[in-house]
Amino acid sequence: MVILANIIYHMSKKFIVGNWKSNKTKQEAIKWLQYLTSNIYNLSSDKKIVICPPFTLLSDVKSYIIDNKLPLRLGAQDISPFEEGSYTGEVNGIQIKEFADYVIIGHSERRQYLNEEDKTVNKKLEMVLKYGLTPILCISNVEQIQNSELIIQNSKTIIAFEPLSAVGTGLPDSPEHAKSILLTIKNKLNHALILYGGSVSPDNIKSFTNIRGFSGVLVGKESLDPSEFLKIIINA
Ligand code: PGA
Repeated sequence: MVILANIIYHMSKKFIVGNWKSNKTKQEAIKWLQYLTSNIYNLSSDKKIVICPPFTLLSDVKSYIIDNKLPLRLGAQDISPFEEGSYTGEVNGIQIKEFADYVIIGHSERRQYLNEEDKTVNKKLEMVLKYGLTPILCISNVEQIQNSELIIQNSKTIIAFEPLSAVGTGLPDSPEHAKSILLTIKNKLNHALILYGGSVSPDNIKSFTNIRGFSGVLVGKESLDPSEFLKIIINA
């Protein structure tokens, strides 16, 4: 019953996830939040807005959200594949749980620039689930979900389909192609919530959120400017 209620709750809200990547100082983040504060309250009731700042900003952004009662949730952009311990530079699940509810894993930029492979992504997924966080697993092709039993078994995973040609290029996928991938993923994981990501903007968002079965979007560049992000929320 609780699981069903959870699923229905998740399904009824559209996810708008903003991925700030390696951008923003503390001052810039607070400015972003201040801009949103005055506009967001009456907009977001049917949307679930998640922002994923860099680790250095999670604490300050969380405090701001609580102090100003903003309807925003927090996500981390990565997680250590290890438990706590001697792993220099890594941020583990226990630490992330203090601040965030969601974790992006398997982003194509990490696969490309940091040689992250499915095996590591699976270890990270294991950690996300172990610490009760919600994974937002990025894939650029369907094969990336096929070799993970964990993904297939887990009902909590959010999948973000992000074609390589669309990430950071200003060239979004065609809604027709995105829809065909969506259907393929749904065939394999009928319980998964699926987001589209890759050059989402205020002008094209509707063409993706209009597709039945998509539960929202993952936004990179256009989430950095609060006025554009706000337009995305409004238009979604
Ligand atoms: P983009 O990034 O919106 O800048 O294409 C999307 C992403 O990397 O998640």
